[in-house]
Amino acid sequence: MDENKTYIIGNWKMKLTSRDMLDWFDNFHELVKDFERYPLEVILAPSLVHIPLLASLTEERIKIAAQDVSVYQNGAYTGEVGAFQIKDFCSYAIVGHSERKESLETVLKKRNRCLEVGIIPIVCFTNPQEAKNVYTKGIILSWEDPNNISVNGVYREKDPEDIVKGVQEIISTIPDDAVLIYGGSVNRQNIKNLVNIRQISGVLVGNASLDARQFLDIIRSYEFRKPVIK
Ligand code: PGA
Repeated sequence: MDENKTYIIGNWKMKLTSRDMLDWFDNFHELVKDFERYPLEVILAPSLVHIPLLASLTEERIKIAAQDVSVYQNGAYTGEVGAFQIKDFCSYAIVGHSERKESLETVLKKRNRCLEVGIIPIVCFTNPQEAKNVYTKGIILSWEDPNNISVNGVYREKDPEDIVKGVQEIISTIPDDAVLIYGGSVNRQNIKNLVNIRQISGVLVGNASLDARQFLDIIRSYEFRKPVIK
């Protein structure tokens, strides 16, 4: 992980079929420019069953995240998928998304399972006071207020001033080199405000990432941002 990078993560949740994914990539490849020149880490998080397909479609430059990992290390846990198993395909895993309604204990276990095998966990938390409870070195912290997550494609964005206030509060409680990203109704319109908040190193994008063109617009908004000197 690199604290000078910008992380742009598309969380596809339980939305796309494998056919949709192929269409998504048709659009993405057609439009993709040379964002490789910029310090951007573009990450896609498909459903678990689609991870191998995604791995066959993406170039090296696009990384893959699992949407979850098991709390268990390995063993007789029918239906579970361990961090050590997704490691073959994924450099990242989203952990503790608010839609999963997990306890802090569970989130920390999953975070640690990822770190044990060299997966970078993208650890979600819902309010600024919680950041310090889930933080440890080597993770990406993702602040997402559940009240601001889109519902059925309808965005419910937070006031930019409140985002700045929350970010200030968070960074006052975590080390200077911690990597913090923001999520919740991020789209091609409001990304302009977020790019200007220098303390956040990227975004977790749900609904808007389902549209390859919109996701590319979000990526491009970051192209001209220089690495943050902390
Ligand atoms: P949203 O979802 O961008 O659709 O609000 C973000 C998320 O829940 O990861």
